[in-house]
Amino acid sequence: MKFPLARPRRLRASKIIRDAIAETWLDPGDFIYPIFVKPAGGREPIPSMPGQYRWPVGEELVRHVEESLSLGVNKVILFGVVPDEVKDAVGSPGYDPHGVVSRAIRLLKETFGDRLLVFADVCLCEYTDHGHCGVVRQKGGRWYVDNDETVKLYAREAVVYADAGADFVAPSGMMDGQVAEIRKALDAHGFHEVGIMAYSAKYASAFYGPFRVAAASAPKFGDRRTYQMDPRNAYEALKEVSMDLEEGADIVMVKPALAYLDVIRLVKTHYPWAPLAAYNVSGEYSMVKAAASQGYIDERIVTLEILTAIKRAGADVILTYHALDAARWLREGT
Ligand code: PBG
Ligand code: ZN
Repeated sequence: MKFPLARPRRLRASKIIRDAIAETWLDPGDFIYPIFVKPAGGREPIPSMPGQYRWPVGEELVRHVEESLSLGVNKVILFGVVPDEVKDAVGSPGYDPHGVVSRAIRLLKETFGDRLLVFADVCLCEYTDHGHCGVVRQKGGRWYVDNDETVKLYAREAVVYADAGADFVAPSGMMDGQVAEIRKALDAHGFHEVGIMAYSAKYASAFYGPFRVAAASAPKFGDRRTYQMDPRNAYEALKEVSMDLEEGADIVMVKPALAYLDVIRLVKTHYPWAPLAAYNVSGEYSMVKAAASQGYIDERIVTLEILTAIKRAGADVILTYHALDAARWLREGT
């Protein structure tokens, strides 16, 4: 159909008609809100992520999650932050049954029950003294992360979180076979109902910088390029996703989101039946905050535009630090 018969502007003439034909709608129920938890003290602002805090396991955390629920954000994912003194080479605080994440899961599930879905990130970089996501070994003067030893520890960590009451565990370390090993361990302990959200296509990205400050999880040497994906590869994401689905992943993920919208679309197109999460990561969040604080961009409109784009690309759920702000803005209307 050609102009003048076709006038696309007819469908943009008013808010009512724009809303009527909109293909994509954001809802607070789309969001998973990432929360950093620490053992004790008061809430602590995270310098690299304005508006985000490390929350002590206790009353302050409960009140914050209450606020989140009141805005319709009913899914959280927990990350543990521990002091350097308790870290070791094998990340023991990560699978300590009395560790910070387990305590937070127990508190939140006891307080909110089925009103809240709790995801627990499963990795070791927050708990190892070297900051890598697994067990580091030497071979011929070179270091490497031992895949098969590491996935055993992930399985232990996942069982500990399941036992604390986590609804989903979310392995983020990009070790081969991590989903299978975790599924096997969960089932062996009777946690058949605990789901796995797999960080399937997680790229080696500098957009994680602010998170590593928040969680004190930056590697002390080297980088994560021997386990996280090469940003140059899109189709390789399909291999990672297909393997994770075969290993028993319930939800698969692409991470980061904004610079990888093509990968989100590719995965959704090839696996339309697989629930797909996208992680709107710390660097994406902090760039918006920094630009907005300088008055360069309108934070509200830019944030909603970014989240809408991620959903339009094919994400079913979005992990985002903007969750509470976005839920508030959605409530106010556009
Ligand atoms: C741990 C983990 C990271 C993120 C989530 N889980 C950091 C990393 O891989 O270095 C990044 C999240 C973000 O940047 O918001 N493996
Ligand atoms: Zn890690």
